[in-house]
Amino acid sequence: MNINLNENFFKLKESYLFSEIAKRVRDYSAKNTDKKIIKLGIGDVTLPLTPVVITSMHKAVDEMGNKDSFRGYAPEYGYNFIRDTVASFYKTWGVSIEGEEVFVSDGAKSDLGNIVDILGDNLILIPDPVYPVYLDSNIMSGRKVKFLNATIENNFLPMPDETITESTIIYLCSPNNPTGAVYSHKQLKIWVDYAIKTGSLIIFDSAYATFIKGDLPHSIFEIDGAKKCCIEINSLSKMAGFTGTRCAWTIVPNALESNGHKLNKMWARRQATKFNGVPYIIQRGAEAVFSEKGLQESKALVEYYMENARLISEVLKEKGVWFTGGISSPYIWLKCPNNLGSWEFFDYLLNNAQIVGTPGQGFGNGGEGYFRLTSFGDRENTLEAVERLRKLL
Ligand code: MLT
Repeated sequence: MNINLNENFFKLKESYLFSEIAKRVRDYSAKNTDKKIIKLGIGDVTLPLTPVVITSMHKAVDEMGNKDSFRGYAPEYGYNFIRDTVASFYKTWGVSIEGEEVFVSDGAKSDLGNIVDILGDNLILIPDPVYPVYLDSNIMSGRKVKFLNATIENNFLPMPDETITESTIIYLCSPNNPTGAVYSHKQLKIWVDYAIKTGSLIIFDSAYATFIKGDLPHSIFEIDGAKKCCIEINSLSKMAGFTGTRCAWTIVPNALESNGHKLNKMWARRQATKFNGVPYIIQRGAEAVFSEKGLQESKALVEYYMENARLISEVLKEKGVWFTGGISSPYIWLKCPNNLGSWEFFDYLLNNAQIVGTPGQGFGNGGEGYFRLTSFGDRENTLEAVERLRKLL
C-alpha cells in the first residue's frame, strides 16, 4: 500500500500503558505457571453489579424480547430517562444542569479521546503525571502539549501558570488518577477564573467523584462560572462497577460557546455522526444506579474498596514507605523504596511477590520513581497482597 497514514501515531509510545503491563504479566506467567499473581495494576473493579441494577437490566432484557416493548437504535445522546436522571443526581451536589446538557456514552475513556474531534488546534495543558488518554489522544491529533507539573511540592495539584496567557485546552482530573489528589473549591475557582480570563476550556474528568470524603468538590459545575468554560466527563465504571458493562456521561453546558459557536451543538453533531448510543438494557441498569437503593448499593461498593485502600495504606505506613492517596480515591501513590525507578519496582514486585502494580512513569515523566496500587481488588487477594508486601518491604 502507498497511502498516507496519520504519522502522529508514530510519536506515541509503542503500546498503551495497560496493554504493556498486561503483556509483561502474560510473559511472566508463561514462565512461572506455578505462581499466583495478584493484580493491583489497572483500576478494574472486582465486585459484581449490584442487585437493583441487575433487576432493572433483567426487566429490560424481557422488554427487548417482546414485540411491543422492543427497541431498536437508542438515541445517540441517551434516552431522556437517563439524561434527566443524571441531571437530577447532580442536584445532590448542588449543581443545576439540564438533561439536554448530558450526553450518555459507552465510557469516559471514549469521550476523553473523542472530544478532540470538536476542538481545533490549541495549546493543550496536561498534568504530569496523569491518566494517559489525555496525552495520547492529543498526540494522535498532532496537538502541541505543555505539561503542568504535579509534584510533592504542590501536593500533586498543579495550579495555573500565569505566564501562559493564550487560550488553551486544560485537562484536570480530580480525584486524580493516579495520585489520588483532590482539588478544593478554592483551587478550582482559581482554575475557572483563569480559564475565563484566558478564553480557555477545561475538560474535567471526575470519574472518581463518589470516592471523595469531606467537603471537596465532586463536580466542576459546583464552581461559579464553570458553565462558561468547562466540560465534565464522568462514568459509572468505578462508582457502580460498570467497567465491563460500559456507561458514562459528558456534560456540555448550553452556555459553553467559543466565538459564537455552541459546543453542546457540536458535540451533539459529533455523536450523532459517529456514535449509535448505549444499549437500552445498559441504560436501564444505569438508571437504577441513581435510584435511592442503587445509590446505597454503590456506596457500599465504594466503601468496600476504600477498606482495601486502608489495608494497603497500613502496611505502607508500617514499612515507612512514603505514599499519598487512598482517602478520597481508590489509588495509592507511593514512592518506590530504595530509589528504584518505576519499572524497576514493577519488576521487583512482580518477581518477588507476584504483585502487579502500575509504574508511575507510565502516567508521565513526572511519575518516575513512583508507583500506583489500586484498591479495586477483592478482599481476599488484597489481604494476601498486603501480607506479601509485609514480608517483602
Ligand atoms: C486506570 O487503571 O487508570 C483505569 O482503570 C484505566 C481506565 O479507566 O481506563
